[in-house]
Amino acid sequence: MTTTITAPQFVRHQALIDWVANIASLTKPANIEWCDGSEEEYDRLINLMIENGTMIKLNEEKHPNSYLAFSDPSDVARVEDRTFICSKQQIDAGATNNWKAPDEMRAILNEKFDGCMAGRTMYVVPFSMGPLGSHIAHIGVEITDSPYVVVSMRKMARMGKAVYDVLGTDGEFVPCVHSVGKPLSDGKKDVAWPCNDDKYIVHFPETREIWSYGSGYGGNALLGKKCLALRIASVMGREQGWLAEHMLILGVTNPEGKKHYIAAAFPSACGKTNFAMLIPPAGYEGWKVETVGDDIAWIKPSADGKLYAINPEAGFFGVAPGTNTKTNSNCMSMLGSDVLYTNVAVTEDGEVWWEGKTKEPPANLINWKRQQHDGSEKASHANARFTVSAAQCPSIDPQWENPEGVPISAFIFGGRRADTVPLVSEAFDWVDGVYKAATMGSETTAAATGQQGVVRRDPFAMLPFAGYNMADYFTNWLEMGDKLNKLTAQHGTTMPKMFKVNWFRRDEHGDFVWPGFGQNMRVLEWIINRCEGNANAVHTPIGLVPTYDDINWAESNFSQQQFDLVTSQDKNSWIQELNDHKALFEKLGERMPQALIDHQAKLLDAVQKS
Ligand code: GTP
Ligand code: SPV
Ligand code: MN
Repeated sequence: MTTTITAPQFVRHQALIDWVANIASLTKPANIEWCDGSEEEYDRLINLMIENGTMIKLNEEKHPNSYLAFSDPSDVARVEDRTFICSKQQIDAGATNNWKAPDEMRAILNEKFDGCMAGRTMYVVPFSMGPLGSHIAHIGVEITDSPYVVVSMRKMARMGKAVYDVLGTDGEFVPCVHSVGKPLSDGKKDVAWPCNDDKYIVHFPETREIWSYGSGYGGNALLGKKCLALRIASVMGREQGWLAEHMLILGVTNPEGKKHYIAAAFPSACGKTNFAMLIPPAGYEGWKVETVGDDIAWIKPSADGKLYAINPEAGFFGVAPGTNTKTNSNCMSMLGSDVLYTNVAVTEDGEVWWEGKTKEPPANLINWKRQQHDGSEKASHANARFTVSAAQCPSIDPQWENPEGVPISAFIFGGRRADTVPLVSEAFDWVDGVYKAATMGSETTAAATGQQGVVRRDPFAMLPFAGYNMADYFTNWLEMGDKLNKLTAQHGTTMPKMFKVNWFRRDEHGDFVWPGFGQNMRVLEWIINRCEGNANAVHTPIGLVPTYDDINWAESNFSQQQFDLVTSQDKNSWIQELNDHKALFEKLGERMPQALIDHQAKLLDAVQKS
């Protein structure tokens, strides 16, 4: 049975209308709403959620036009163990992705989605990842039964009626189906934040489809972000010769007015938003850092061998805890108005708070579980987030919506490592850079469910986001290098340089040694100067590194001794580290590129001889 539906006049795409009708006949919603992205629609859905108890309005003076949503305590982060890449062949999903045969998964989804929207409204949400109508953008349409998703998508992507103008009668779009899932039979899940204990975040890479069931939170539910712009886009990029990466993009201008753009991959909750909005510290007068993106980069080579990057998103879904006027004052200004918060704490008079916002929590605090905060637990969830339009960012780069993208001078890869990995090292060449990124380890964070603080390999910060075999993904990067090597030689242009950083080395008390945040500017300056050929580096077995004197310490009291601590390379730790790299490569299986396997042997030999 197919439901007959009437689409509004602004939708002229029959295949899209038919698809919506099909999903409606499967999910059986009480009614269908075609979202237009208007302010009226936004306000109406916000008010609906206030009535439902999903959200509260915050203090209008302190937080104009801002709201706070509380999720179900079981639905607070991405669920990697419930995320699937359902390629036809298992090997195309690779060793790091969960896989099920497409037919088998479709049977499961059909059963899960059958009638799952009963009694609810189904929203049809058109969105563009990348500037509307630009040749680099991709369109998606998300069907969802969550008004929280609709209002969030309006901030995170170019969402609304204009997308249909671009789509016309037969334009291409990625169909994304989302439901918070059937109400549990025991009636346990709150009406304020419905969700289901059984979750499925499913991608069919060959047919470019996304199906998400059971969660209303973040990357599980805002399907333009990790599902489309990374997992599906990485597959498209591989076929079409570009890259979809979990990277921030920033522009840095030196006092002489020379500007470089940098793309940096750090795993979830490891510092992308903060680095992208860095404010140069005292001693860096005349330097400027501007923000193009904080989470996702789409990167394409030009004919003369340069790489150009765009931010496909239109907003920031950023980690709240740890954010304050000292660590990220750009971010605090950006949060001045028109913010959707999720799972932060709130005072009785409607002012938000999270761990690290101020030293001491204010009195009369209500925690993210809506209970009086008594200090026995954290007041905000560790993965509490803000959702805000990028246009509100005071450091937003003038080029951030340029559909041609910005030229990338260097890549930075960085994990969260208490030991072993030095503050910064430069790759010897592209292959060494790909190796450094491929073998990146990082302590797990609250951005995904599961154990926190355990080191795992997170290649390119893409472990949860590569939509295909990770070994093939490495090959794609190596092939991009070959291509760029040829083009840059032909045109006299330069290859982007590659660097590895670690802001998170700890001392024997477990405290961070490197001050981080704005102070990361010192490392960034060295990186820029290396790109310009103006900075010294010394050769070590694992990369090119600065000495204490190669870093600008203007107005800093960071000592040589502290520097030695964050830059030390312990031989035995590195032998262990390189063995872990080898174990990763073995796990990745038969498609693992030989160049990286050989490189591991070469590095191990160099470390052993050192
Ligand atoms: P996702 O949005 O999950 O992809 O994360 P992200 O990489 O954008 O991480 P974000 O910048 O939000 O940082 C996550 C946490 O790390 C926050 O609590 C920050 O305060 C903290 N953090 C960021 N930069 C630094 C740094 O340089 N040093 C230290 N010690 N902590 C940092
Ligand atoms: C991440 O986990 O890397 C995020 C948040 O940026 S989410 O949108 O949930 O993926
Ligand atoms: Mn992210």
